[in-house]
Amino acid sequence: MQKAFRASIFHCLGDSKSEYIEDGVLLVEDGRVAGVGTANDLPGGVDVEDHSGKLILPGFVDCHVHYSQLDIVASYGRNLLDWLDRCAYPEEAKFSDPAHAREVADAFLDQLLMNGTTTALVFATVHPQSVEAIFEAAEKRSMRLIAGKVLMDERCPEALRDTPESGYAESKALIEKWHGKGRLGYAITPRFALTSSEQQLAAAGRLAAEYPDTWMHTHLAENTEEVEAIARQFPESRSYLDVYERHGLLRHRSVFAHCLYLDDDDRTLMAEKGAAGAFCPTSNLFLGSGLFDLDAMDKAGVDVGLATDVGGGTSLSMLRTMDEAYKVLHLKGQSLPVSRAIYLATLGAARALDLDDKIGNFEVGKEADFIVIDPHGSSTTSRRAKTTSSVDELLFSLIFLGDDRNVAATYLQGKSVA
Ligand code: GUN
Ligand code: ZN
Repeated sequence: MQKAFRASIFHCLGDSKSEYIEDGVLLVEDGRVAGVGTANDLPGGVDVEDHSGKLILPGFVDCHVHYSQLDIVASYGRNLLDWLDRCAYPEEAKFSDPAHAREVADAFLDQLLMNGTTTALVFATVHPQSVEAIFEAAEKRSMRLIAGKVLMDERCPEALRDTPESGYAESKALIEKWHGKGRLGYAITPRFALTSSEQQLAAAGRLAAEYPDTWMHTHLAENTEEVEAIARQFPESRSYLDVYERHGLLRHRSVFAHCLYLDDDDRTLMAEKGAAGAFCPTSNLFLGSGLFDLDAMDKAGVDVGLATDVGGGTSLSMLRTMDEAYKVLHLKGQSLPVSRAIYLATLGAARALDLDDKIGNFEVGKEADFIVIDPHGSSTTSRRAKTTSSVDELLFSLIFLGDDRNVAATYLQGKSVA
C-alpha cells in the first residue's frame, strides 16, 4: 500500500544539483521511496499525511560520531590529547558495564533521531558489549547504522586496552554476528595509530582484507601534536596516512575522520583507493584542531561527508554542524552553498559511506528515511522564515538558526520514529 507525505520537498541529485517541489508529495511503499511529484499529480485513493507548510528532506547521515561520549559533550580539554586523557578515556571505561552501554545507546539513538539523523557511522568503545548495545538499540529501531569495537592496545589507560589477538578475535566475532544483519554494518575500528601497536594495526589490516565489504573507521591527522607523535612512532612512514596504508587499512569503505593535516599525495592516494574523509567542524573548532580544506579534497576527488564527532564535537545536530562547516570554510576563503551543505549531510555523506545506492535522496527504490523540517519550530526561525523569499534562503537561515526544535518528525522506512 502506498502512502503519500505532502510538504515542500527538497533533496540533492548531486553535489551541485538539487530538486525542489514547493507543493510536493513523497510516495512511500513497503518502506521505500515510490516517487516524488507535485501534490496536484497525486492519484486518488492514496492515504495522505499532510505536512503542508513544512519541508521534507532526506534523513541526515552522520559520518563519524562516538556514542560513548554522549554524556561528556562540552567538557574542557586543552587540546585533543589532553581532552582524550582527561575526558574521553575515563568516560569510555564505564562501558565495560553492559547495562550502562545499553542505557547510553538508547539515549544516543533517540537523540540522533530527534535531531533528524537517520544513519550514522559510530565508534563504540574497546568493550565488545558496547558494540552489542548499540547494534541492539539500532536493530530495535530498524535504523541503518554502522559501528565497531575500538581497537587500542598501547599508550592509553590499562582499563581500555585490548591486545592484537583479543581485538582481532572479538572484532571477527562481532562481524560474523552483526555485519549485514538487517540494516546494520560493521566497521573495523582502530582508534588511531597512536593507540595501536604495529601488530594490532596489522591484525586490523588482516580483518579488512578478510571482510572487504566491512567498513574501516579511524581518525587521521586531526591535531599537530598528534601528527608529530605519529611521525616519531612510525619514522619509516612517509605520512600519517601512510601508516594506515602500510597496514592494509586504506581501501574502499575506509572512512577517516578529520583529515586536517594531509598533503596532496595523501589526498590523491585516498581518492585512488576509494577512501573517504569525515569533516567534523564543531569538533575541530572546539578542540582547536584546525580548519578542514574542502577545496583540496574536492580537487583530489576524495568523497567527503559531514560528521558531528560528538563528544569532541559539540552537537548531534547536523544543522549546527552545517553552520560550523560554513564558518570553517569561510575562514579558509572557501564557500559552502546551502545545497552543498545539505549534500554533505545527506547524499554526499551516503556516498562517503558507500551507501548512496540505499539512502541519501528520494530516488525511487531507496529506503524512505526522511525528516520533516518545520521553519516555525522556534520563534527565531519563524520570524526569519517570514523574510525569506526562496527555498535556498529559507534553508540557509535554518542552517544557522535551526536545531532539534525544527525537526518536527523523523521517519525510518516510512514509519514515524521521532
Ligand atoms: N582521536 C583518537 N580518539 C579520538 C576521539 O575519541 N575523539 C577525537 N575527536 N579524536 C580522537
Ligand atoms: Zn572522533
